[in-house]
Amino acid sequence: MSKIDLKGAGFATTAIHAGHSRDPEYGALATPIFQTSTYCFDTVEEGGDVFAGKTSKYTYARTGNPTVRTFEKKIAILEGAEDAIATGSGMGAISSALIGLLKTGDHVVTADTLYGCTDVVMREILPSFGIETTMVDTSDIAKIEAAIKPNTKIIYFEAAANPTMRITDVAAIAELKKKHAGIKIVVDNTFTPPPILCPIQLGADIVVHSVTKYLNGHGDVIGGVVVGTTEDVSLIKSRAVGKMTGAHQSPFNAYLIIRGMKTLDLRVRKHCANAQAMAEFLEKQAYVSAVYYPGLKSNGKDHEVAMKQFKDGLCTGMVSFEFKEGYNGKGAFENAKKLVNSLTLPGIGVSLGDPDSLIQHPASMTHANVTPEGRKEAGITDGLIRFSVGLEDVEDLIKDFENAAKAL
Ligand SMILES: Cc1ncc(COP(=O)(O)O)c(C=O)c1O
Repeated sequence: MSKIDLKGAGFATTAIHAGHSRDPEYGALATPIFQTSTYCFDTVEEGGDVFAGKTSKYTYARTGNPTVRTFEKKIAILEGAEDAIATGSGMGAISSALIGLLKTGDHVVTADTLYGCTDVVMREILPSFGIETTMVDTSDIAKIEAAIKPNTKIIYFEAAANPTMRITDVAAIAELKKKHAGIKIVVDNTFTPPPILCPIQLGADIVVHSVTKYLNGHGDVIGGVVVGTTEDVSLIKSRAVGKMTGAHQSPFNAYLIIRGMKTLDLRVRKHCANAQAMAEFLEKQAYVSAVYYPGLKSNGKDHEVAMKQFKDGLCTGMVSFEFKEGYNGKGAFENAKKLVNSLTLPGIGVSLGDPDSLIQHPASMTHANVTPEGRKEAGITDGLIRFSVGLEDVEDLIKDFENAAKAL
């Protein structure tokens, strides 16, 4: 048994040890992978008791697995929540949370800027089940409040919006619950994972993550998680993730995620430092008309909210920037393509939060499935580029950008 007591421990210590109970049989340090679909009972009577809910034991991997449970406990502790339920992907987490908490006739207030697939869930899929959605700029509390109706059940947003880096004030939105009882606040914390932001500690009810990104952090897993109270998580588990829709996580993926999370603190701090340096560099480039990064003073209100709610001045490793129309007599999109195609270190790809830098063009990639009107509303122009700043030496990334800019 582990002797570790994490009471009062710092974030890095907690990220390494939380959720683990040392393997009692062999003392294995790493969490074993329980690669099994089913679990056996000693007797029919024992099986009957477990299925009747009289005793608790794993039964079948769609409804629970010890490796996956270790990850769930770890992320719940790091987010300061009661419980968590792991899913096969970030979209699995988002759709499970929504299916678990909503029913026909309900209404959701959500952001006008969201990850492309979440945008489709909000604009098309929920309405097709008779759930109404209203999309507003969630960085403006007055607009959220004006959109609330008697049947509003959820306010949903990304703490830092993908890809425009618009920052939403979690504590200010949580204040709205005092006037509008029964509304749950659901935050996609993918871009700003702990130690940057713990939305539940600021009054949110549920956090969802694409674990694919910073939490796993190595570009080799697709995964998701929903974090919240025991009551909400068990509702989501029973109505969506576990038995009914089977959006559960595989034990091998959970093993890789647990391994990745042991270095979460180190990685996130370096991603943020590199991103800050890249944002400051990009802001000085003649071909750039705007840099969206909450660590920059030029980002006004987004910067103010970030400094208030993010820990230790950490922001995110994500930087978006806009190309100047007409630079060297060329269009913004033409120059954006030229620069991105000339870079050598960042891969042209849609994921993020990996050690390897990744760069992409939201209008034709991550947000291609958003309608042109939706992209316009969200501020996703053809000249906008999203850069997931990796863990390389930032001097090398800057050199790469300087060389690539010669093509413009
Ligand atoms: C903010 C955000 N939320 C959710 C998702 C979906 O996650 P996944 O790809 O793990 O399903 C993404 C994917 O890029 C994302 O950027």
